[in-house]
Amino acid sequence: MPDFPVNMSVKPEVKGFYDTQTATITYVVKDPESNACAIVDSVMDIDYAAGRTSFEHADEIIDYVKANDLKVEWLLETHVHADHLSGAPYIQQKLGGKIGIGENITVVQDTFGKVFNAGTEFQRDGSQFDRLFEDGDSYRIGSMTGTVMHTPGHTPACMTHVIGNAAFVGDTLFMPDGGTARADFPGGDAATLYRSIQKVLALPDEMRLFMCHDYAPGGREVLWETTVAEEKANNIHVGKGASEEEFVKMRTERDATLDMPKLIIPSIQVNMRAGQLPPKEADGGHYLKVPLNKH
Ligand SMILES: [Fe+2]
Repeated sequence: MPDFPVNMSVKPEVKGFYDTQTATITYVVKDPESNACAIVDSVMDIDYAAGRTSFEHADEIIDYVKANDLKVEWLLETHVHADHLSGAPYIQQKLGGKIGIGENITVVQDTFGKVFNAGTEFQRDGSQFDRLFEDGDSYRIGSMTGTVMHTPGHTPACMTHVIGNAAFVGDTLFMPDGGTARADFPGGDAATLYRSIQKVLALPDEMRLFMCHDYAPGGREVLWETTVAEEKANNIHVGKGASEEEFVKMRTERDATLDMPKLIIPSIQVNMRAGQLPPKEADGGHYLKVPLNKH
């Protein structure tokens, strides 16, 4: 990717917030030259068994933003998450900012609109989001420029956001000892994921990489920041020049052993709507569906 624009002299201040229930890291990315910030991959809490949502995690971030007098310009989703619900609309209501996701959200909406029989009132054109990013698009956070790299494979809409010397890779990569994310969701593909990872690893060696998840393998402490150089050297799935063929074999065999994420049913239905609950039914309540025996 020699022509992917990078400016390593811009050094955003990055604060991570770890959600213990879903092992998700939400980031506040601040412009060092102003009070502008973006929030990447926020979380809405859910007690699925109780059918109750809440906002403890999002409130922690809102408190941080307010305490530091920050101005939220963007609420970025690296992809449609299958393991946690987005808190973006709640944060937007409290703090403003535009919600952005990759343009292939329309592919994801089409797929899951059918899986959940969402009906014609569910728009599959991405219109629930404020901005649909195309590969190579850029946007401003105060004085900083963020640039979007399409990194599909885990899902079709996955985007890596490169902001100065920091890249937010979503579920493209995990920490070196965690390897990579699964590629077996509808629209996922292991070979495509491998090629996307090569694009990320073609960024400068010193590029800081921020993970969307960390499952603390081997019981180590939770970590979420590494570099391109460290991933190239040590990533257990793609490091040391692992070939596409080796990767696809490993990824496919491993994915066949994985259970579905605990929160996939609520997560997809909410996240394909940009974090909104499904529309109210006749009695004024919101409901989730569970498709049975479809796959
Ligand atoms: Fe994911």
